Amino acid sequence: MTTEPALLLDGVEYAFEGRAMRFDLDVAAGEWLAVIGPSGAGKSTLIDLVAGFLRPGKGRILIAGADVTRRSPAERPLSVVFQEHNLFAHLDAFRNVALGIAPDLKLDAAGKAAVSKALDSVGLAGFENRRPAEMSGGERQRVALARAFLRERPLLLLDEPFAALGPALRREMMELLGTLRSRAGRSPLTVLMVTHHPEDARGRTNRTAFVEDGRIAALGNTEEILSAASGPVAQYLGL
Ligand SMILES: Nc1ncnc2c1ncn2[C@@H]1O[C@H](COP(=O)(O)OP(=O)(O)OP(=O)(O)O)[C@@H](O)[C@H]1O
Ligand SMILES: [Mg+2]
Repeated sequence: MTTEPALLLDGVEYAFEGRAMRFDLDVAAGEWLAVIGPSGAGKSTLIDLVAGFLRPGKGRILIAGADVTRRSPAERPLSVVFQEHNLFAHLDAFRNVALGIAPDLKLDAAGKAAVSKALDSVGLAGFENRRPAEMSGGERQRVALARAFLRERPLLLLDEPFAALGPALRREMMELLGTLRSRAGRSPLTVLMVTHHPEDARGRTNRTAFVEDGRIAALGNTEEILSAASGPVAQYLGL
């Protein structure tokens, strides 16, 4: 049993155009953390720093105890799903998922079966030959989730993955995410999820981080954070 945090940001600073952001955060293994906050607060910057798309000016980023601060995005043990453009337009659903485990798309029988199983797990059995343009936004995000979970990286980053979907479908996708995350017989996958919808976090995520002005201004149990009667979170939520 490891007590190492799944993710640790230790004095991570990122500056541009005279504006500075600073993030300190630790996420426990198996935890589902929601990240909320106003537009422009730095939520995507936080995700991009962890993913390695941005390099911090100062500080360290550790994943399961390993310092990844200087590693490229591909060398980090994580998967990322964005709001859109997660898929390659010229590849069908099967190949888009297969890329998660075989960048050269060369798969043996077991690999092919794993890809089909991953599509099945997101409700897309039979969609193998569809290209992104032939699928709905929700279906495309299912493909992106199938690929992310097939990769079995220990950390999953989600930046407003369902923001472009309607309320009922968004709820359905959140349920699916919860199911995929729970992984029978193993501890749940550690997830960092940016959302603008507090109801995505409520009743599902363990903790919520409120990002404001380039820092984590509040962090704690989701229900407590979201029910604050006053202060910056209450103001943001319009309570
Ligand atoms: N590399 C960069 N160069 C200049 N400005 C940047 C850079 N990265 C981010 N910003 C600015 O930093 C601020 C935070 O951006 P970020 O995308 O992290 O916000 P966000 O919290 O994800 O907002 P939203 O909810 O709208 O997605 C914004 O004002 C953005 O314009
Ligand atoms: Mg953003």
